[in-house]
Amino acid sequence: MPSLRCINCQSEFPTSQRIYNCPKCSGLLDVVYEAREFQAEKMKSVWDERRSSSKSIDRSGVWRFRELLPEAKESEIVTMMEGDTQIWNAPRSADYAGMNSLSFKHLGMNPTGSFKDLGMTTGITQAKRLNATSVACASTGNTSASMAAYAARAGMNAFVFIPSGQIALGKLSQALDYGAIVLQIEGDFDDAMRLVREVANKSPLYLLNSVNPFRLEGQKTIAFEMLQQRGWKAPDLVVVPGGNLGNSSAIAKGFHELLERGVIEKMPRITIIQAEGANPLYRMWVRRREREGTDLKLEPVAGANTLATAIKIGAPLSWPKAMRGLQWSSGEVEQVTEQEIADAKAMIGLDGIGCEPASAVTLAGLRKMVAAGAVKPDEDVVAILTGHVLKDPDYTVNYHAGSLSFTGKNGERVALKSRFANAFTRVPAERDAIMGILGL
Ligand code: F0G
Repeated sequence: MPSLRCINCQSEFPTSQRIYNCPKCSGLLDVVYEAREFQAEKMKSVWDERRSSSKSIDRSGVWRFRELLPEAKESEIVTMMEGDTQIWNAPRSADYAGMNSLSFKHLGMNPTGSFKDLGMTTGITQAKRLNATSVACASTGNTSASMAAYAARAGMNAFVFIPSGQIALGKLSQALDYGAIVLQIEGDFDDAMRLVREVANKSPLYLLNSVNPFRLEGQKTIAFEMLQQRGWKAPDLVVVPGGNLGNSSAIAKGFHELLERGVIEKMPRITIIQAEGANPLYRMWVRRREREGTDLKLEPVAGANTLATAIKIGAPLSWPKAMRGLQWSSGEVEQVTEQEIADAKAMIGLDGIGCEPASAVTLAGLRKMVAAGAVKPDEDVVAILTGHVLKDPDYTVNYHAGSLSFTGKNGERVALKSRFANAFTRVPAERDAIMGILGL
C-alpha cells in the first residue's frame, strides 16, 4: 500500500489523509511504494503489452504504469487518455545547439496542450477518492487550463487563481471554456500561490498545485513513458524547464524509482533551465557551488520577470525536491536570457515542432551548456517541451513581426532581436501582383 512520507523528517501518513505538507515539520510529502516485491522484467512486459490495449486506463500514458501510482479503482479514475506523447528528433535544433542529434518529447501534445494533464489525472482522481467536490489552484495558465478540464470531466467545481494580465490568452480561454471560476488576482503568481494555499487550508477546496504530491505522481510517468518509448534505455541527459519546480522533481522521482527497482541501470542527468529574470533555483545553485556543505535555503526572487509567463515564478514551492533530484541525478542548473529563449523557440519552430516560450528554455540552455563544454555533442539528450505552440500565439507573431519586447528592471522597454524572423507579406488581392511578388 502506498503511503505519504515527509522528505524532511521521514514521518509517514496514510494516503487517505487530506494534507499537502507534513503536519509535523511542514516538509514536502512524497507518495512512496514498497519496492520489495517488484519484478522489473515482468513489469516491463506488462507495461509494454498495455500499449496495444483498447482500455482507457491502459492507453493513458499515466495509468498504464498503475503499479507505481497511488491506488484507485477503475471507476474512480478520471482520465482523458493523457500521455502517449511523441518523441521527435530535431536536426535543426540539434545543429543550433551544437549537438550531433537531439530529440524532443513534446508534452504539449496532451489533451489540454501541456504536461499538466499527466499530474491532473492523478490529482483529480485523488480529489474524487477524498470526496472533494471543489478543487483550486494558482497558475501561470497551464495548470488552470488542465485542472478546469479534468474538474469538468469529474463534475467538480474549479476555482483558479491567476495573476491578472500575466497569463497567455490561450490558457485563459481554456479555463473559461471549461467552466472554471477564474479569479484574476491583482498581484503576481507568487501572491496567487500564497492566497490559494491560505484559502485551501481554511476551506473544503482541494488544492491541486504541484505541492500536492498526487500531482507529481502523474508527472513522474514522463520518465516512465520516455523510457518505454526508447526500449527502456535511459538517455544521458534530460533537459527540463524550471518554474515552480514540480515537474523536474517529478521526472527525477520517476527515474529514481525505476533505478531502485532495477528497470534501468543508470540515472540520466537532469538539467533544469530557468529564465534569467525568474531564476531563484539558478541563484541557489551558484551559491551552493560557492559554499559547499552549508545549509542553503532558496531565496525568492521578488518581481520575477520573463516573457515566458509559464515560468514567471520567484518563489517556487518544490525547490527541496528539485535539489534532491539534482543530487540523485548529478544534474545541473542553467539560466538563459530573453533573447536566447526567443531565438531557441523560433529554431524549434523551424523543425516543424513548435512550443510555447517556457519550453524553449531547454534548447537555449542546452546550447549554452554545449558551448561551455558541460554537454558533449555526441551525448544522448532528450529535451522536454512542456507546452503547445498555440498556447501563446501573441509571442510567436510578435517575434516574427519584429515587435517582441519586455519591460526591464528599471521599467525600460527592451526590444528583442528577431534573428530568425519570418515576417508575413501584405499583398494586394490580385493574382498578377501576387505572382509578381512571388517571382512566378
Ligand atoms: N513549462 C510550462 C509550459 C509550464 O506551464 C510550466 C509551469 C513549466 C514549464 C514549469 O514547470 O512549474 O513544474 O517547474 N506552469 C505552472 C502553471 C506553474 O501554473 O501552469 P514547473
